[in-house]
Amino acid sequence: MDKSRKGIILAGGIGSRLHPLTQVISKQLLPVFDKPMIYYPLSTLMLAGIKEIAIISTPRDLPKFKKLLRSGRQWGLKLTYLEQRKPNGIAEAFILAEKFIKNSPSCLILGDNIYYGNNLSKILKEVGNDTNNSTIFTYQVKDPKRFGILNLDKEGRAVKIIEKPKAPRSNLAITGLYFFPKDVSFRARKLKPSKRGELEISDLNQSYLNDKKLKVKILNRGFTWLDTGTFDSLLEASNFISLIQNRQNTIVACPEEIAFANKWINKADIKKVIKDMQSSYGEYLRDLIK
Ligand code: DAU
Repeated sequence: MDKSRKGIILAGGIGSRLHPLTQVISKQLLPVFDKPMIYYPLSTLMLAGIKEIAIISTPRDLPKFKKLLRSGRQWGLKLTYLEQRKPNGIAEAFILAEKFIKNSPSCLILGDNIYYGNNLSKILKEVGNDTNNSTIFTYQVKDPKRFGILNLDKEGRAVKIIEKPKAPRSNLAITGLYFFPKDVSFRARKLKPSKRGELEISDLNQSYLNDKKLKVKILNRGFTWLDTGTFDSLLEASNFISLIQNRQNTIVACPEEIAFANKWINKADIKKVIKDMQSSYGEYLRDLIK
C-alpha cells in the first residue's frame, strides 16, 4: 500500500432532502444506530490503511466535525478540516484539497456512504496499491435514475458514465468511493460546471475513462452499500447496523477497534477514549482491551 495516499471525506451540502432533520445539524452527523454517520466513511478509509484525512464541510458544520473528531490522534490519524462554502459539486473537493493532496494519490468517500462486506479491507488495500489508475466501485441497484451510472459494452468493458440518466441503460450505480492518481486536482480544475451548476464527479471519472485510466470494481451481492439520503434509507441503515451488531456482538465502523487492529493505537489510548463512555459502545471497547 502506498503510504502517502491521502483520504478525503466530503461531508458538506445542505441536506435539503432531510429537512427539518438537517435544519440545524449536518446530515453526516446524524445517528446511524449508535454512532454519527461520518464514523462509517471514516472507518472505510481507515480500513484502506489511510491515515491522513481531510474532512470537507460547510462553514456552519465544520466546527462540529472538529469537536467530534478532533485531531484524529486518538485513532492514530492526522485530520485536516477544509471549508466548502457552497455545494459546487463533488469534484470541487479536489480543488479545495489541492494543497492537502500535494503530489499524492488520493481516495474520496462521500460522508453519507456506508460499505459493509467480507474482505473489504483487503480489496481497498489492493486497489490502493495501484497509483497510476483511478478506481470506481459499482453496485447493482433497483433505481438507477438516482445515481451516477456506468454503461458497459457487449464485452463488459466500461464505455460511458452518466450522472442520473433519465433512461438508464444499465443498473450499475457508481458508489461514493473513488481512488485517484496524483493528477486528480489538475483534472478537476479543467472541468466545466454541468447544467445543474456542479463540478460533477461523473465528468471527472469520464476523463479517466477517456484516457483508459479507469478501473472498475464490482461490489457483488455479498456486499452491502447504503447511502442515507432519505428518511427511509436513514432508518434502514440504522436497522441494518443494529441487526448485524446485535446478531454478531460486533460493532460496525468502530474507529478505535480498527486503529487498534492496525496497531496505530494501544490499550492505553483506548482507555482514555472510554473513560466517560457509559454506552454499549464503551462496553464493547472495554471488552476489546480486556
Ligand atoms: O451516493 C452515490 C452517488 O453520489 C453517485 O452515484 C453519484 O454519481 C454522485 O453524484 C452522488 O449522487 P448524489 O445525488 O447522492 O449527490 P449529492 O448531491 O446528494 O451529494 C452526495 C453527498 O456529498 C451529500 O451527502 C452531500 C455531499 N456534497 C455534495 C455536493 C454536490 C458536498 O459535500 N458538496 C457538494 O458540493
